[in-house]
Amino acid sequence: MNSFNRQVTPLHRSTEEPLPNGGRVECEEFPVQIDVLGPLLYSLFHDHWQEVGLGHVVDGSVLELEFTQAPKIIRLYDGYLTVVTEGWHMHLCVEENQGGPDAATPEELRRKRLVSRAALYRRFNPRGQARSWGIQFWNGADERMMNVFLPNPFVGENEDLLPENKPNRAKLKLYEQLREIYVLGNELIPDETNPLKRPFISVCRSSRCNPSLNWQPIYEALQRAVAEAELEVDVIHSGCLEVCKLGPVVFYSGDKTWYTRVTPELAEEIVQEHLCEGHKIKSNLYPVVKES
Ligand code: FES
Repeated sequence: MNSFNRQVTPLHRSTEEPLPNGGRVECEEFPVQIDVLGPLLYSLFHDHWQEVGLGHVVDGSVLELEFTQAPKIIRLYDGYLTVVTEGWHMHLCVEENQGGPDAATPEELRRKRLVSRAALYRRFNPRGQARSWGIQFWNGADERMMNVFLPNPFVGENEDLLPENKPNRAKLKLYEQLREIYVLGNELIPDETNPLKRPFISVCRSSRCNPSLNWQPIYEALQRAVAEAELEVDVIHSGCLEVCKLGPVVFYSGDKTWYTRVTPELAEEIVQEHLCEGHKIKSNLYPVVKES
């Protein structure tokens, strides 16, 4: 059953922080459950990548990255949202990072890594005029994590500043839409389900587990079997899946299952038996299942 709730319950929590130049930052917080962060972040990187930037702003350091093409990968694995572009990638912990089958993440670290607060912000100059718009995330230790920079009406096409009296107000549309949905709860989340929770099955192609170098036939077998079974499951290949040296490794996100030493024949069996029928194939499970 899909328990996804499209209605965000507002937190009614806003703060103001003075800036050294006499200006201020106004933050309006919104909930950070995965069913809120998932659709928000997915829509930013999937639908609005041409408009937004990504980075980090702390005293003494600013990083601003922009997308020149649509991201190649937007995927949730073990609590981390990964976004991969041609030139860079980023990770943001939006759900508990539990660790691989051999190395559970300690409770305290899980809490520290996870986004604990998020806010839509506006930065005002000393004259009280809003000058930049974005989203700020904080981790469980209340440290600033990354920022998403939202379109700025004072900035033109080539990053040049527009004349003071000629801002392009249409660029505030995204900020206003996000505020209505995620801060005020006046509009519903547009998605019917959480796009980051769409199940996937992945084969490791990392050179760290040598046998995985032959991942291609397994990937193709998974693709074939999933298409034949008409399943709503993405078939992907990925970097390390945390069971190194026992490759080729396959991971199914639907119920967090790892398989090792996978052959193309076994890949097809995994789809038919496990994904379709719900029966795991014990012989290749990881951790190994001990017969009682
Ligand atoms: S490198 Fe393949 S699972 Fe780690």
